[in-house]
Amino acid sequence: MPGDVVWRVNAGLDGVVYHDVQDVSNPYELTVIVNKYNKLKESYVPPDLKSIGNVKVRAEAADAYVKMATAAAIDGIFFIPQSGYRSYSYQDQLYTNYKATDPNGADTYSARPGFSEHQTGLAIDLNIPSGGSLRNFTGTPQAKWVEEHAHEFGFIIRYTDKNTDITGYISEPWHIRFLGIEHATNMKKFGIDSYEEYKVKYIDHKEGENTES
Ligand code: DAL
Ligand code: ZN
Repeated sequence: MPGDVVWRVNAGLDGVVYHDVQDVSNPYELTVIVNKYNKLKESYVPPDLKSIGNVKVRAEAADAYVKMATAAAIDGIFFIPQSGYRSYSYQDQLYTNYKATDPNGADTYSARPGFSEHQTGLAIDLNIPSGGSLRNFTGTPQAKWVEEHAHEFGFIIRYTDKNTDITGYISEPWHIRFLGIEHATNMKKFGIDSYEEYKVKYIDHKEGENTES
């Protein structure tokens, strides 16, 4: 099989979303992957939540965020954290509301409960200081700065134009995910756009194996 097909199979991307699902076995690890094939338990709550502005994220992500926001401010760039950790039940409410008003579109921008990276406490949605819809963040100097610098503080932009077919979500330039400086920088350096691809190749080391039986 061509290499691209192999890593996709090894990442479980050949399954049916929300149907071929694994329970996440390592929710506490910074390298955890949560997507439409990997689900967190309803009871999972990160152990070390810490406040940044009006939201909470895991301590390492919070500390990295403060460093990033400080560096951005020095460059004259200001943003706010609009969303961080979200409980299973809160995600359920959000998704249910979107689905009710937008039955065909909701799954392209809202995760079902258990399937949201926000439940890991490692994801942050950034907004411009005046707030409002997150879509206002797209194309701003803030979005450009984050795209250029987030990796220096250990964050990746999780949903981009280039990885829509892998993640199943539209581009969200505001949604950053803490992964640690080494992995975030590697993704930038190697030009790998999705965490799905990076994880299977450089964390699980399953790039070339064919695990199909
Ligand atoms: N907007 C992202 C995909 C979420 O709901 O987790
Ligand atoms: Zn988000």
